Amino acid sequence: MNDADSIPGAPRARLVVVISGRGRNLAALIAAIREGRIAADLVAVISNRADAPGLAIAAAAGVPTTVIPHVDYLDRAAFDAALASCLRACRPDIVALAGFMRILTEGFVREFEGRMLNVHPSLLPRHKGLNTHAAVLREGDAEHGATVHFVSPQLDGGPAVIQGRFIVPAHDDVQQLAERVMDTVERKIYPQAVAWMARGELKLEQGVAVFRGRPLREPLTLDDLEEGFR
Ligand code: GAR
Repeated sequence: MNDADSIPGAPRARLVVVISGRGRNLAALIAAIREGRIAADLVAVISNRADAPGLAIAAAAGVPTTVIPHVDYLDRAAFDAALASCLRACRPDIVALAGFMRILTEGFVREFEGRMLNVHPSLLPRHKGLNTHAAVLREGDAEHGATVHFVSPQLDGGPAVIQGRFIVPAHDDVQQLAERVMDTVERKIYPQAVAWMARGELKLEQGVAVFRGRPLREPLTLDDLEEGFR
């Protein structure tokens, strides 16, 4: 995988992606690495589900995969301990949760805090948790979108990095909204955020997201990117 931005001889960031499902965000990250937009090596993909279609996407890209079935563990702490041990062995600089549908324990989050990003299908802090598209329709929201944030022990509550938003079309149903969020927002904002992390331009400092040396008071926006802000 080539990379236009990397400094010759500089070590590339080690990226691990953790999934549960289809892997469309994973595919976007793989494409961005191939195109040289993310200066990282994807060293492993981990799934908590053996039937996650994203595993085939990783395998087709030649990326090693590991399945850690959560159903094999007695409780949340035991699963998180297994996941942490697998991640530790990968020595990741960046852990990208990409459609990973598990709540994480505080101890797990603390170990990887500052290295771990998540993409969530809503304009956080609106609609944390599951079924965000249905909530948008039920509550008649005018806008919807997605957010990339650092993972903190509060569910979907860590510092936001970048958001993309759109006006909710009058006749969209839950499925259409979900596809729209993925295609028009997530596929763009997640590779961008990971690229910034890999370049050392995005950090978590004392619980605050810092971008190019400045604390982010508001998340960056998709509009910033469309204006060529990369
Ligand atoms: C994405 O929309 C992602 O934001 C969401 O699941 C979908 C996964 O799609 N994640 C969550 O809801 C996490 N709480 P993908 O597997 O095709 O990338």
